[in-house]
Amino acid sequence: MARKGSIGLGAYPQTRMRRNRGDDFSRRLIAENVLTANDLIWPVFVLDGEARREAVTSMPGVDRLSIDLLIDAVGEAASLGIPAIALFPYTDPALKTPGAEEAYNPDNLVCRAVRAIKAAHPQVGIICDVALDPYNSDGHDGLVRDGIILNDETVEMLCKQSIVQAEAGCDIIAPSDMMDGRIGAVRKALDDKGLQSVRMMSYAAKYASAFYGPFRDAVGSGGALKGDKKTYQMDPANSDEALRETALDIDEGADMVMVKPGMPYLDIVRRVKETFGMPTFVYQVSGEYAMLKAAAGNGWLDNDKVVLESLMAFKRAGADGVLTYLAVEAARLMKGLKNKGPLFRRPREL
Ligand code: PBG
Repeated sequence: MARKGSIGLGAYPQTRMRRNRGDDFSRRLIAENVLTANDLIWPVFVLDGEARREAVTSMPGVDRLSIDLLIDAVGEAASLGIPAIALFPYTDPALKTPGAEEAYNPDNLVCRAVRAIKAAHPQVGIICDVALDPYNSDGHDGLVRDGIILNDETVEMLCKQSIVQAEAGCDIIAPSDMMDGRIGAVRKALDDKGLQSVRMMSYAAKYASAFYGPFRDAVGSGGALKGDKKTYQMDPANSDEALRETALDIDEGADMVMVKPGMPYLDIVRRVKETFGMPTFVYQVSGEYAMLKAAAGNGWLDNDKVVLESLMAFKRAGADGVLTYLAVEAARLMKGLKNKGPLFRRPREL
């Protein structure tokens, strides 16, 4: 019989929640979620040249690397058990045009990086972003005419961009542009080229977020961007709309779906996972990284503890994996390795 005032699940003093939490062994036994290196995708920034390493000022500890250095960095990530990387190019401003033609140049920086990384580390999954912003002189993810972001013309370009990336050896095509109909169009374009086994991870619910600011510094698209992305990225006020966006992408052939940003949008991660039961990913974006590093660099937060806690929160919300600039340091921490090294200088040491 439930005691008065109880809902039938137990009540104090028979029930003491602290019993299970009393020892380390017991806490480990009752843990509902686990975080492992298998859950991590490491986004990296590549730049042209050789032996080049440039710090991204607004992302302390993150560097843009030339392909040769990136190969070594990916090697370390692989040795820590990280399954995949997501590749983003810093494009020479001279190559940016209003037509973003560099996006489908089979020898562009991304394609060269994919080929080189695949040759050196064939076991590592490579994810390529599909959107025009690295190549567009106005910084938008789509083609712009008279101030309007064109949908269907952009989708045709995204198909071409996806094909050169897939032909270079990219394993997962990840459209981040939020144009309507792009998942179905890219799927068909890949299939028509015999690239049926290339997977697609859609940025299904991507919000028009100010948390992307440091990323735009990292890829050099921020200065160019005129206006905002609100006509294609979602309004942070909406949640049902995220489910419609995700449903459409699944219907169009997405193999995996993603929610972005991460920590301020955990409710969306949970709804998407519960509604569709799809492989669901979340992107802990540049601004989230910058906040954490700024506070840790000032000694206001314990870096290593907050890194792991922030990632566990995504697992608890229902994510199967996380795209995070913290991937390598988190994987090191999980192995009990000291979180130090050339890639991971703390803000104060920069
Ligand atoms: C580009 C793209 C963006 C991010 C990933 N792909 C920026 C944007 O949409 O403006 C953001 C990643 C981050 O902030 O870490 N389409």
